[in-house]
Amino acid sequence: MGPLIEEIKNKKELKSLNSDFVGSITKELLEGKKINIDKKSERKKIIKEVRSILHAVYGVFKKSKYTKKEKLLKDISSLKDTAGHNKILELHRSTKERLEYYPSVYEKIFAITGKPKSILDLGCGLNPLSYPYMRLKTEYYATELTEEDSKFIQSYFDKLKIKGKAYSLDLTRINTLPPADVCFLFKLLDTLETLKRDITKTIFEQLQTKWVVASFPLKTIGGRKNISKRRLVWFEKIIKDCKYETFEIPNEVFYVIKLASK
Ligand SMILES: C[S@@+](CC[C@H](N)C(=O)[O-])C[C@H]1O[C@@H](n2cnc3c(N)ncnc32)[C@H](O)[C@@H]1O
Repeated sequence: MGPLIEEIKNKKELKSLNSDFVGSITKELLEGKKINIDKKSERKKIIKEVRSILHAVYGVFKKSKYTKKEKLLKDISSLKDTAGHNKILELHRSTKERLEYYPSVYEKIFAITGKPKSILDLGCGLNPLSYPYMRLKTEYYATELTEEDSKFIQSYFDKLKIKGKAYSLDLTRINTLPPADVCFLFKLLDTLETLKRDITKTIFEQLQTKWVVASFPLKTIGGRKNISKRRLVWFEKIIKDCKYETFEIPNEVFYVIKLASK
């Protein structure tokens, strides 16, 4: 299946994805189907289908100027350089949408959790670059799907002398997660559930944090349609034995959850 995977990845936005990750999605899609990947039309169809999944879980979040982030990082002088940070935060859809609300989001979160000494940010996108908005000194562990994206976050930590570690991790295949005071699962669980049903439960079992802050979009990508909060019944079932509070910003609902067992 190797050549097929490489063919699927042969697109600018998908090149940096790990072949095992692409392979597992392809395998799952092929399972139980009688598809002959050596037949041109069938091969084309499967390539299209896998690429569409990869776009929905990964590529779609990156704005067209995403590749400019390294250059923009060079221009950032300090944690006080809000404008410099904002330019990078604007390159990922999730952080761009949240940009004007960051001060109030973190104020609300930390009013509930207290000031964390360590944060674990899973499927972080570019969220670690919102560090100045947190207004605290905390250790920061961040994970993203690809090596390339996590290396960028590590270079940000190093440049700004933040005590942090970023690494690549496919969250559909986790074994252990590092301990921390607070874990961020921002706009992540909907995406992960499309890749692996019930993965949220596994993540919650693996977490070694006192608090979890999970958020979900209230608008479709591009902001055209509302997505009902009623769809989150499945998630509220998972956290039913925990104490939690919620709050909203225009495009996003946040759950601040105290993990009962930790
Ligand atoms: C909607 S974005 C949210 C990014 C960030 N948490 C935020 O809210 O600013 C979802 C993120 O999940 C990442 N992702 C998708 N599938 C993943 C997987 N299997 N393991 C880890 N991360 C994944 C994507 O690369 C993307 O950056």
